[in-house]
Amino acid sequence: MSTKSIGELFSLQDRVALITGGGGLLGFEHAAAVLGCGGIPVLMDINPAGLRRTEALLQAECGQEVFSLECDITSLDSVLAARIDILINNAARNPKVESSGGVNFSRLENFPTDQWQLDLNVGLGGAFNCSKVFGSHMAEAGQGGVIINIASDLGVIAPDQRLYRSDKLEAHLQPVKPVTYSVVKHGLIGLTKYLATYWCEQGIRCNSLSPGGVYANQDDVFVSKLTRLIPLGRMAKADEYRGAIAFLCSDASMYMNGSNLVMDGGRSVW
Ligand SMILES: NC(=O)c1ccc[n+]([C@@H]2O[C@H](COP(=O)([O-])OP(=O)(O)OC[C@H]3O[C@@H](n4cnc5c(N)ncnc54)[C@H](O)[C@@H]3O)[C@@H](O)[C@H]2O)c1
Repeated sequence: MSTKSIGELFSLQDRVALITGGGGLLGFEHAAAVLGCGGIPVLMDINPAGLRRTEALLQAECGQEVFSLECDITSLDSVLAARIDILINNAARNPKVESSGGVNFSRLENFPTDQWQLDLNVGLGGAFNCSKVFGSHMAEAGQGGVIINIASDLGVIAPDQRLYRSDKLEAHLQPVKPVTYSVVKHGLIGLTKYLATYWCEQGIRCNSLSPGGVYANQDDVFVSKLTRLIPLGRMAKADEYRGAIAFLCSDASMYMNGSNLVMDGGRSVW
């Protein structure tokens, strides 16, 4: 077998990549990365407006029409199992639980059980459902495949709750990053290792990507507190994960399996 050129290693020619949460901020970036490597992205999201927005952005940037499916990943039907080569489990809830009646529901003491179930159902249950349906199909098809789970720097480290603190609030009302975010993101790294070994004989690789926080007009105080925790001294730009997605989806990472690629400006090593 001849050695592939770098261009061939990163090529996704004729490969179909299903991206859950394709209607969100990073869903667009993942799809642009797939298109940039010559692949065919398929967007899946519960939010039709998000899908239309991503389709329009991809059309404007890449001049390409893309397929999209409006679908809730917590109730995925196996009849949807079209043949795909790459699954990017990217969808998640970003729980921001507000205060009301003098109670802050993001705090562990008050965290509602139905919120716990909803967050886990989407973030972990959705990745499980999609991996089960599409991974089984990839395994049966016998052409190999790639599964990527989008975790987070908070899948590796604990949230620093000082980031969310407000001087104006009493201790019991201080907002925190909800427990479900940590549990979902750590769980996805566990799911990655499980899947990496489950279908390895069928040539299906699974890795996770742990991005650090993307700057999206968050308030200045939060941004300045967070950037002090990041060795590179800034939050990520949304398009800075495209190279990692291209690498993880393609043969450029063909000997990588069961790993977690941490891309957080160095936050988790400080
Ligand atoms: N943005 C960041 O700073 C950051 C940092 C680290 C990790 N991440 C992770 O990257 C991923 C994408 O983040 P994002 O910033 O693009 O988030 P986002 O909220 O913009 O996008 C998430 C998408 O998931 C969709 N979704 C939610 N529930 C769904 C369901 N039941 N079925 C189908 N789709 C559903 C939403 O409609 C949304 O479009 C998430 O897993 C997130 O935790 C993001």
